[in-house]
Amino acid sequence: MKTIGVFDSGFGGLTVLRELLPLIPDTRYVYLGDTARLPYGSKSRETIVRYAVSSAHFLADQGAELLVIACNTATALALDEIREAMPIPVIGVVEPGAQAVLAAAKASRAGTGQSKVVVLATAATTQSKAYSRSLSALGLSSIEKACPLLVPLVEEGWLEQPAHKAVTLDVLRIYLLEALEQAPGANILLLGCTHYPLLTPLIETTLKNLHHSMQIIDSAAATANAVAAHLSGSPPRLVDANPECIFYATDSIEKFQRLGSAFLRQPLSEVHLVDLGG
Ligand code: DGL
Repeated sequence: MKTIGVFDSGFGGLTVLRELLPLIPDTRYVYLGDTARLPYGSKSRETIVRYAVSSAHFLADQGAELLVIACNTATALALDEIREAMPIPVIGVVEPGAQAVLAAAKASRAGTGQSKVVVLATAATTQSKAYSRSLSALGLSSIEKACPLLVPLVEEGWLEQPAHKAVTLDVLRIYLLEALEQAPGANILLLGCTHYPLLTPLIETTLKNLHHSMQIIDSAAATANAVAAHLSGSPPRLVDANPECIFYATDSIEKFQRLGSAFLRQPLSEVHLVDLGG
């Protein structure tokens, strides 16, 4: 059984794991949420590289033969350094995300020439311009909007309870209004942070209230497909095999279990606390 390491600063990377499980089931997954050092998105490049490389080493030490960087911030700021440091293949989320946008633009009425993309992401990801570069290489014009309050709202689970949800909707309204001021008529919204798919229903409500229709794309499914394509040279998969998941978090196991299992829609039985330093 192959071991795939999946890494995020928190539990947003579970959006990628959720897509991987049915697609590549005959696999042992080791997942690390670096919750003690989250958020990465407000930190400097040097710090993000240091945290991401140490997290990648931890997963390789747990037997990972392939690493999925299920974090846009770590991918945008540290993918080259992680690849240099690791002797195993490393797949990030930015390139698959940009390819998913290209496919959506091609299928849209506007086509690639007229499509305008808004990328919502952390401050570090937007500053890196990783998405603008990838999208413009594919002939797509985009603007990137930093949304620093969204990761804490998702990590706190402020998504359903009415008073919490009202705050999250207010924050989304402000961010989306500001983004649409910069890119009026934008037709594609890329969720450039693996935490944001958890906000999709609230983003849809906000866009509806703003009377603005956009196609929402996230990189989770596209990344899982990129992993499957990478493995397609491997021996045939046992499709009825059950994946095995082991979770590691660098802060509260209880919180990781509670929020993570609600999201993954399965109990996170094996969650271990790990200390990766500061
Ligand atoms: N989930 C991470 C991403 O995709 C961001 C979380 C953070 O700021 O640490 O960018």
